[in-house]
Amino acid sequence: MNKINELFDKMWADYIKLNPRAQQIVNLLKDEGEVVVNDHIALRTYNLPQVCVDKVARPFLDSGYVEKDTYEFTEKKLFAKHYEHPSLDLPKVFISELILEEFSPSFQNLIREKVASVDPSIFESFELMVKGCPWELSSKEYESLKEESDYGAWLAAIGYRPNHFTVYINRLKKFSNILELNKFLKEKGFELNASGGEVKGSPELLLEQSSTLADSIEVKFTDKTMTLPSCYFEFAKRYPLSNG
Ligand code: NI
Repeated sequence: MNKINELFDKMWADYIKLNPRAQQIVNLLKDEGEVVVNDHIALRTYNLPQVCVDKVARPFLDSGYVEKDTYEFTEKKLFAKHYEHPSLDLPKVFISELILEEFSPSFQNLIREKVASVDPSIFESFELMVKGCPWELSSKEYESLKEESDYGAWLAAIGYRPNHFTVYINRLKKFSNILELNKFLKEKGFELNASGGEVKGSPELLLEQSSTLADSIEVKFTDKTMTLPSCYFEFAKRYPLSNG
């Protein structure tokens, strides 16, 4: 238990370096008397045997997490699983993998090469998800990946670390309505991701979510430094099934 809590602390510390706004928002909500609970983290990988979802899941499974559900996102070419811990104090863990077979041979080869260039013990590490980018990447390689997949390029450049943490709106007192939370955040100067509407989902779908725009970070490629989108902060409200 301690080991997994420590990993979550380390992932959060790494995440707020990439996305300082998340800590600012947590502090603001605390000032409003709220207790901020993390609903889920989202982790990303490729579907290669060394690093696939089942590999990335191992530290969580070893810590008592249980696989709950699988998902296919055909348009984004992703497969995903979500895991829960019997202790409700720990967040859900959502792990997705990019299905490489759906991409061009050069895209696939580039990712295979990058993964093969890494000491495999890194992928076995309990702390893989705070390792960041384990391979060398040029800006040209990044751009070529981005032509086919934002997800694939993000992962190649930003590496192994959570894509987002998520405020569990249900556990907030003053801001238990997602619209009120969004209004509060915008009044405090945070920009929300409005593409596809600020609120994604609906009570009928049992889940409403919104998120900040991704922060940005300077990434050192082998040939130059570029400013790229890093991570965003998500807000989720869940509705119970009719059977409870
Ligand atoms: Ni999410």
